[in-house]
Amino acid sequence: MKIVVTGGAGFIGGNFVHYMLNKYDDYDIICFDALTYAGNMETLEQALDSPNFKFIKGDISNVKEVESLFEEEKPDVIVNFAAESHVDRSINNPGVFLKTNVIGTQILLDACRKYGIERYHQVSTDEVYGDLPVDRTDLFFTENTPIHTSSPYSASKAGADLLVQAYYRTYGLPVTISRCSNNYGPYHFPEKLIPLMIVNALNDKPLPVYGKGDNIRDWLYVEDHCSAIDLIIHRGTVGEVYNIGGHNERTNLEVVKTIIKELGKSEHLINFVTDRAGHDRRYAINPTKIHSELGWSPNTKFDDGIKQTIKWYLENKSWWENIISGDYKNYYAKMYESR
Ligand code: NAD
Ligand code: TYD
Repeated sequence: MKIVVTGGAGFIGGNFVHYMLNKYDDYDIICFDALTYAGNMETLEQALDSPNFKFIKGDISNVKEVESLFEEEKPDVIVNFAAESHVDRSINNPGVFLKTNVIGTQILLDACRKYGIERYHQVSTDEVYGDLPVDRTDLFFTENTPIHTSSPYSASKAGADLLVQAYYRTYGLPVTISRCSNNYGPYHFPEKLIPLMIVNALNDKPLPVYGKGDNIRDWLYVEDHCSAIDLIIHRGTVGEVYNIGGHNERTNLEVVKTIIKELGKSEHLINFVTDRAGHDRRYAINPTKIHSELGWSPNTKFDDGIKQTIKWYLENKSWWENIISGDYKNYYAKMYESR
């Protein structure tokens, strides 16, 4: 089987490339990635040693580049991770989110129609469901929860999901969609909560917590996301949506305090800053469908996963030091210095 992983030089796509190469020695895995600020060839270092792996630099929103990918590689399966993925960046600059997340998805879907495909899988997010009240811990997102977005990021991901479903209904394209909760683990770009806090704490820099830190996220170790996508592309029902999550809800403040404790740092580093505009209160997934239909359950509990993640950042300093010494400095100054 030949699988194209778009966005495979990013956080989850990179972990998925490693997961699939380790699990299937007879599959060809091709990473197609534009190498934006979030894409990193160092994430793929191990994969590049494998004879079953190939990297192609390309943009999903460029018809020519996508069509030559299909013509040259004739993939059986597309797993689309490629996206602009950071809510805060989408608040400052929505346009590129629409271009990559919506138009890029449409261009991939059109290529699938033109050249044929066994399966197109769209990697989506629980953020398309909007948010839940913090005081209603009995409520969870199911696959039937209406789409109700808050940020330009989630709106663009929802637009993509709707297109994927339209291509199934109108053209009979064999698609599946997964909507996962917040991931964490190795190779996570340090603009997102967990890696940003680990990296800042290691450098004894302030830890910027938005608002009161009482927003809740449902954390999933990235390898568990990879195993769920692996199951869906092999055994998921065409046309269906699968929610992915492991019931690991934590407030942001709890997460930050856990990181501080693991690293032996002081809570004085916590710095409460202006809240994010439109900040979603709580995400929480009901994963019953993927559990009962495909037998998926997560392997890693948050308390173990966060320790493994911190250990990875301690052991792979050069990976993140290379990031934070580059353009990231400008991003950090713009986002946080006058917050
Ligand atoms: P990321 O930002 O770390 O990586 C995105 C990757 O896509 C990068 O390698 C980047 O170079 C590439 N890319 C961006 N624009 C591209 C384009 N036009 N053409 C080709 N490649 C392009 O993102 P991530 O956190 O790994 O998220 C991957 C996917 O999973 C996204 O679709 C995201 O919406 C979804 N998702 C993420 C989370 C999470 O917690 N991070 C949770 C649920 C779903
Ligand atoms: P993030 O990792 O950006 O993921 P998302 O917004 O897609 O859930 O943020 C996770 C939570 O952490 C979110 O409630 C915003 C909050 N947050 C902070 O408090 N400080 C920060 O510096 C960042 C990046 C996020």
